[in-house]
Amino acid sequence: MKGIILCGGKGTRLRPITYTTPKQLIPIANKPLIVYTIELLLNCGIKEIGIVVNKDNKLIFEKTLDKHFTEDFQYIIQDNPKGIAHGLLFAKDFIKDEKFIMVLGDNLFQFNLKKFIVDFLTNKSNCKILLKEVENPEKFGVAYIGNNKLINLEEKPKTAFSNLAITGIYAFDNNIFKASREIKPSSRGEYEITDAIKWLLHNGYSIDYEILKGNWRDIGGPRDVVEENVYRLSAMEEDIKGEVVNSHVSGKIILEEGGVIYNSIVRGPIVVGEKSIIKYSYIGPYTSIGKGVNIDKSNIENSIILNDCVISGVEGPIDYSIIGEGSIVTNEKGLRKVNRLVVGKNSKVYLSNL
Ligand code: TTP
Repeated sequence: MKGIILCGGKGTRLRPITYTTPKQLIPIANKPLIVYTIELLLNCGIKEIGIVVNKDNKLIFEKTLDKHFTEDFQYIIQDNPKGIAHGLLFAKDFIKDEKFIMVLGDNLFQFNLKKFIVDFLTNKSNCKILLKEVENPEKFGVAYIGNNKLINLEEKPKTAFSNLAITGIYAFDNNIFKASREIKPSSRGEYEITDAIKWLLHNGYSIDYEILKGNWRDIGGPRDVVEENVYRLSAMEEDIKGEVVNSHVSGKIILEEGGVIYNSIVRGPIVVGEKSIIKYSYIGPYTSIGKGVNIDKSNIENSIILNDCVISGVEGPIDYSIIGEGSIVTNEKGLRKVNRLVVGKNSKVYLSNL
């Protein structure tokens, strides 16, 4: 069985980070988001994986994934991305006539995919979807079930009469390509995968479903990224390869080679990448710090700091934040009553009067 992972969108809700780092490559516990999904597929024996990208982000996907895997992935360019059902059409030549698994590259699961695949193949249905009970179904594609059968689907309804969201993992046979060609764009101008599956349903094809008990997160905005980071850090094992000097350390710490914690208070779970230096600072739980970061006299928790940042003299806590690669955050002496900013397009700056 083959797998495809969709990464062709623009990631507008995570700008400005996504101007340089595609959403699916944002590090969660210092590992690109998509790596978790690729591991899930490989663990089920799916070795032939196609990654649907757009023309601007293909190279960065290739470069990043070469560092994590020895497998050769197929990179498929989606021209002018216009929705998930549009993206999957570009994978037709890669899939040929086989049954396949499709995963949205910005979704993360705690899930027994092996069983899902076996059930799909055994039942010989045309499509299988994974549903999850949620509190805010209006934000998702929604499935309606009656008598243990799928009876309808709706993309982001104004009022949802079901709390079952359609998650981003699907099993399909070749008919999904026909369905994706038949549908029209939705009111937001996208070819919706929910509409393609609905087309299958209303044209006599069989669709199975499973309700997920484990964890699922659809990463859309910054809060989703930070919360997934909390979840993944909670499950990590301690591993100290760097140096801890004159510091108070508690909880699980992952400190990579060349990393130094000096004269600081650190509460895990946290991860600190290679050659990062923390001094005279407080680093609170659920913080991921990339490589080559320098933190001095600062206070950070529940945050993700990407590679090569400098954070200095920031005494008020940096909390629930994502700091993009190579950024500098500093509180210069003598400038206490003013804020001096160099802020790029679509940045988000939340200032406090404290
Ligand atoms: P979305 O989150 O719907 O879109 P996006 O990633 O562009 O983000 P935003 O809404 O903030 O602009 O996409 C869900 C997944 O599907 C994601 O992994 C990207 C992928 N995708 C494609 O591959 N092609 C597309 O045309 C679209 C819209 C999304």
